[in-house]
Formats: sequence, structure tokens, C-alpha cells
Amino acid sequence: MELTTRMLSPGEISEAVRLLADGRVVAFPTETVYGLGANALDPEAVKAIFRAKGRPQDNPLIIHLGEIAQVEEYVKDIPPQARLLMDEFWPGPLTLVLKKTEQIPQVVTAGLDTVAVRVPDHPIALDLLRQTGFPVAAPSANVSGRPSPTRAEHVLFDLNGRIPAILDGGETGWGLESTVLDCTVTPFRLLRPGGVTLEDLRSLVPVQYGTDADSGDEEAPRSPGMKYQHYAPEADVYIVTGERTATKILELSETYTKRGEGVGVMTWNERADLYPTLTVLGMGPQGDYEALAHSLYHLLRQADVLGLKVLFIEGVSEDNLGLAIMNRLRRAADHRVIKT
Ligand code: TXA
Ligand code: MG
Repeated sequence: MELTTRMLSPGEISEAVRLLADGRVVAFPTETVYGLGANALDPEAVKAIFRAKGRPQDNPLIIHLGEIAQVEEYVKDIPPQARLLMDEFWPGPLTLVLKKTEQIPQVVTAGLDTVAVRVPDHPIALDLLRQTGFPVAAPSANVSGRPSPTRAEHVLFDLNGRIPAILDGGETGWGLESTVLDCTVTPFRLLRPGGVTLEDLRSLVPVQYGTDADSGDEEAPRSPGMKYQHYAPEADVYIVTGERTATKILELSETYTKRGEGVGVMTWNERADLYPTLTVLGMGPQGDYEALAHSLYHLLRQADVLGLKVLFIEGVSEDNLGLAIMNRLRRAADHRVIKT
């Protein structure tokens, strides 16, 4: 069904609240990326999220709360170490997976007995959540498989005609989705790296990540969403790392340029001059990971706007925020990494 998608200004939050209370879906800004929200306690409303995004039914949603105290109603058996993390990082870009209560419908959690929950750190999101009073289930507000939206225009591009409204809060802050941490296992397990880094978490509690005894694969376990290809532009994406990165990228691009196909490279601003013949997407000042995270999805979307056939991305080191950045880039590249 084709709808007219309205852009709502921050002054029109009450309209977004009304739509949500009516069982409709609304896109809204958070400090990470835009979310596509619906009343988590209304199974029909939640189903509309899956339809609008084309999201596989087996991929559970995060519920968003306006107040930390609300968590008691929706999750149970909260370990003391999870409390510690809530106190430290909420509101903020940390999602905790905990045992759910009966209140949360099966459709939200794709049948799991756990639910992912967070309190976002964004004035518009908090205002919206506090006015609704109910938990708002929200995945990122992109069409499934596309880069997450960090601007209202990105949401409009993907979901125009498929949702009734977008609450426009300008650009989001972090630019990457929240860190997802499974708190139902000991030690807690990092399912998706994000703005709250592994180093941040480990300074407070033990956390396992990556090599897993039964899978040996960071992708497989427990976070159903991580098995799908994600964040992908239309262009073929390759990550290139190592000392000879620039030489390798220039060499690989020749086949494409000969055919007259658009070749892009994502590199730190200071290195742009190494690629005079290619379309450069600047990652920001060298080593500024926060700036890179902030613009990453916009850059991936730019690759499509520019009609690039192939996009080479210079890999970055994986400490702190770099872990989340490379996690998203590997998926955008469908795990094509060239080491030089
Ligand atoms: O920053 C964010 O987290 C954004 C904003 C809107 O809050 N949301 C977001 O949602 O990125 P989504 O649906 O795109 O990603 C949620 C991730 C998926 O990988 C999903 O599989 C995982 O969290 N997840 C959700 N519930 C889970 C559960 N009960 N157990 C394990 N993983 C879960
Ligand atoms: Mg998503």
C-alpha cells in the first residue's frame, strides 16, 4: 500500500506519539542511527516494521525505553554486572540482551526467550519515548540489507511511500548502530561491536568476543541479524589493507577504468592525493575514528549516488571504535578483504 510519507519537525513530536499510539510505524532519530519504531506491546504494529523494511521474520528487534527504571517490566533475572553496565552506559549506545518477561510479544524477539533493550541518548528519542510510555521496538530504519540511515533523507530514500512519517532530527551522532551484548551467558558475550567499545566494557566486566569454541566464527552465534549481508551499496566493495594498499588499489582499478566504469576509493583525507584518477570518498582526518564512524554510512550511500561500479576501502586498525567500523565494512564488502 502506497502512503504519503510525512517529514515531521522536532516540534511535531506529539504527532509521532499519536501515530505510534495508533499502532503505526514512525522513523525517529537516535544517537546511533535512525530507528523504525512501533509499539512493542502491539504485535500488529510490530509486524508492520518487518513489512516496511522487508526484514526477515527471524531477526529480533531492540526495544527502546525512555527511563532506565522501566526495564524491570520487560526483562527479568538481571545479573548485577548488567546493572553495573546500565548505570554506566545508559542512556547510550549499548544494547543488553536479557531474559524477557511475558509482556514482550513473540514477534518482537522472533520467538526467543530473550529481548534486546536499550535507552537511547538522544533528546528527541527520549522525549518521544517518555511521551508514549510504552517500549518502542525499532530496527535501523533502512530497507533490509542497505546501510543504516544517519540522516532523515536516507530514511526517505529507502522507505518513501512505505511508512507514514519520519521525525527529522538532523544527522545522528555516532553514526554506527549500538553495541549489542548478550548478558544471559557467562562471561557476557559481545554480539555486535559499537560505540561502547569492547575496551570500555572490559574495564568493568569480563566479556567474550570472537573465536567461539563451537563456531570459531564471530558472525554465527546468537545475534540472528549478524548472519545477513548488511550495509551494502550497489557497488562491489573491497577492503584493502597493508603496506602496499595504494599501489594495489590503483592496479585493481585499471580493469574498471578501461571499461569506463566508475571506481571509488574510501581513504583518509590526507591520502586523497595518492588516487588522482579515482573518485575519492574522504574518511576524515587520518586516524579520527569518531569522524569516520559518523560519516561511514553516508559515504557508502554516496557510492550509489555517484553510480560507482566498484568501491575500494582502506582498512583501519581494529582497536576501540575501529572494531565496530571494520565489522560493518567487512559486511559491506561481503567479506572480500585483500591483504597486501
Ligand atoms: O543503534 C541501534 O542499535 C539501532 C537504533 C535504532 O537503536 N537499532 C538497530 O537495530 O541497529 P537492528 O534491528 O538493525 O539491529 C539489532 C541487532 C540485530 O543484529 C539483531 O539480530 C540483534 O540486535 N538482536 C535483537 N534482539 C536480540 C536477541 N534477543 N538476542 C540476540 N540478538 C538480538
Ligand atoms: Mg539494522
